[in-house]
Amino acid sequence: MKLTSANINVMVKACRKAAKILIRDFGELENLQVSRKGPGDFVTASDKRVEKILIEELQKARPKYSILSEEVGEINNDKSFKWIIDPIDGTANFLHSIPHFAISIGLEHNGEIICGIIYDPIKDEMFSAEKGNGAYLNNQRLRVSSRSKLKDCMIFTGGPNFESKEKDLSIKEYNNFSSQVLVPIRKMGSAALDMAYVSAGRCDGFWQRNLNYWDIAAGIILVKEAGGFVTDFNGNHNFIQNKTILVTNSRINDEMIEVLK
Ligand code: 2AM
Ligand code: CA
Repeated sequence: MKLTSANINVMVKACRKAAKILIRDFGELENLQVSRKGPGDFVTASDKRVEKILIEELQKARPKYSILSEEVGEINNDKSFKWIIDPIDGTANFLHSIPHFAISIGLEHNGEIICGIIYDPIKDEMFSAEKGNGAYLNNQRLRVSSRSKLKDCMIFTGGPNFESKEKDLSIKEYNNFSSQVLVPIRKMGSAALDMAYVSAGRCDGFWQRNLNYWDIAAGIILVKEAGGFVTDFNGNHNFIQNKTILVTNSRINDEMIEVLK
């Protein structure tokens, strides 16, 4: 089985077209690592190329929908439907030829995310979810993990960014978790894939500060449809405004909130 609604089909089609460019550019990057100029400008150009294809394809299929995308910002139209796009989530990985990054597209309807896809083009893993219809990896239904003791869990985090004003806080949180969990905490470098991995039961819990809406939009519906929780660090729902996000398999939510206090 898999998701087959019209909106999901539109997203998947746009994503697969853009992913061809992303894969081609990723191949080019290996040569640029050793060039004197470095890959920085090339990555920025690649980000824009991928975004352009996504926007063109989504607009062709849904001309009236609004758009929020990392590079171009807001394109205002019918405000009740909005695509939330991150053309490359995990840009630093991409830049360093580390094969762990994704295209992320969410669809917001009246302020709520109703569909999302996260595509890892290197591993050819298409995560998709739709409100009420479940979460999938390629054609397989997803369910969050059932681990219930934080100590036994695989925990991910990201950041802090070099200019972050909350660096000390982030490091304190890292310290606190690392004394509660047996397996060392992972920093994979793509918040979208971190959330997709929670939905797939690969990761049990993830926390991070200062993410943007486009980093997490698609992940929200994936995790919810797979049976997980998405909250702020206090367990409340304003994680977008608060810029603190806690994503869990639901069972370790209370324990993680306790550590974040
Ligand atoms: P990006 O690759 O699209 O820039 C890495 O920890 C994750 O955080 C990535 O998903 C990255 O998205 C995102 N990120 C981007 N800018 C950030 C910032 N200023 N602070 C924290 N995370 C950020
Ligand atoms: Ca991002």
